[in-house]
Order: sequence, then C-alpha cells, then structure tokens
Amino acid sequence: MIVIKTPEDLARMRVSGRLAAEVIEELARRVGPGVTTKELDDLARELMAQRGGRSAFFGYRGYPGQTCISINDEVVHGIPGPRRIRLGDIVSLDVGVVYEGYVGDTATTVMVGVSDPEVVQLVSTGRRALEAAIGMAVAGGRLSDISHAIESTARAAGYSVVRDFVGHGVGKAMHEDPQIPNFGPPGRGPRLKPGMTLAIEPMINRGGHEVEVMDDGWTVRTRDRSLSVHFEHTIAVGEGAAEVLTWPGPK
Ligand code: MF3
Ligand code: CO
Ligand code: CO
Repeated sequence: MIVIKTPEDLARMRVSGRLAAEVIEELARRVGPGVTTKELDDLARELMAQRGGRSAFFGYRGYPGQTCISINDEVVHGIPGPRRIRLGDIVSLDVGVVYEGYVGDTATTVMVGVSDPEVVQLVSTGRRALEAAIGMAVAGGRLSDISHAIESTARAAGYSVVRDFVGHGVGKAMHEDPQIPNFGPPGRGPRLKPGMTLAIEPMINRGGHEVEVMDDGWTVRTRDRSLSVHFEHTIAVGEGAAEVLTWPGPK
C-alpha cells in the first residue's frame, strides 16, 4: 500500500529531509585523503543529534553504523570502520535521518582528487540519472517512468544499473511501498499521485550489473570489481514538478 502524505506529513518530511541534506553536505565536505570512514560516521552521529534527529539506519535489521559509506567498487551498505580514504577514491555516502518520526534518505558519491575523465564521467552520469528520474516524478505519470529514465541515462553512457537493490517509498518507515527499480520499460506500475514521497536512488556500475554481498553481511560490491556510484534524493510528488525534500536549507 502506498501511503499518501497529508500536508502535515509533508511539512514534517521537509524537516527530516533538510536535516539529512545538511548532514550529508557536511560529511561530503569532510571526505578527504587520510580520513577514516568511522570518523565520518561519528561526525554524522553528532550532526544528527545536534539537530534533534537520529540515524534511520542504526539498528535497522541489526545494521551497526549511523551511515553507509561505500568506496570504489562497493555499491551500497558499506559499514564505516578504520579504513582510510585515499586520493583517487570515489566515496558514496548514504544518510538517513529520523526527525519527529519521519525519515529523510539521501546519498551522493564524492570524488577524492579524481583525475581520470572516465571516472568523472561515471560520477556525473549517476547524478544526471537521478536528475532525469526526478523529472519524471510528476502526477499522472507512471512509476516505471522513473525507472526507465535511470536505465536509459546509464545505458546511453555505456554503464549498467544495479538490479538487486531498488528505490522505495519513504515516510514514517524508511522503506515503504512502492519499490522503485532502476530499470524497466516506461508506462508501467502505479500512477503517480500528489502526496507520494519517494526515495529515488540510482546505483550505476562502470562494468556489469552483477553485485555480491561481502562476508560482513552488509557491504555490497560489484562482482567484476568495477567502480559504482550511488545518488539518492527523497522527493514529494506534487501538482507540478516534484519537490526535492533532501535539500539543505538556508545557513
Ligand atoms: N539508506 C539505504 C537506502 O537508501 C538503506 C540503508 S539500510 C541500512 O535505502 F541498514 F544499511 F542502513
Ligand atoms: Co539511502
Ligand atoms: Co533509500
């Protein structure tokens, strides 16, 4: 069942979305050579607490981190730890904040002194895939229009999309209906309606689409060890263009 949010729900979703955006923006600024992923995760805990929120991830199915931090060929769900980020890495950050019972979920991939133009191209394709998908999140359209926009953006640039993980509805729960695959034909699935809040999250690989879960039970990696990028926003379908909820507010 897809939960349609009331104006009161949406007002709260705007706050949790803004907080998630502020936290990820600050983390992205701190990503750099020599920084450990645990240091970033600890900072995330502080930033969320300072704002009166908490992690939507910690304890979710036993997940041990505050955030997910996935480097290079890691796709999603990297557990923060003592590993140090290095020059040339691409680092995917995923932040979920609960504030007054509502979740904001957002992700981005940061380049750490990347000079290879092919890697820059991969990262910018991930960002463009998310933007194209948000552009399709309009009332009267169909859910799979979002999916198709992601797949076609990725394929046109010569990349593949991860099939084993999907975007999702989001609200009082981090994962609500519907599931939003990052591939598929347009014009299928439920019709999009004002008040739907969706976490749209393309995961795009430089090589093949296959992924595998590591022995820690969480970290997802590309099977061929090719680089992978992840971008995510929580959006609200409205009467016109979608509203991006995971956007930082005025400073
Ligand atoms: N935020 C992820 C998503 O985008 C889910 C993380 S689950 C966790 O759907 F357990 F790893 F936190
Ligand atoms: Co997320
Ligand atoms: Co999500």
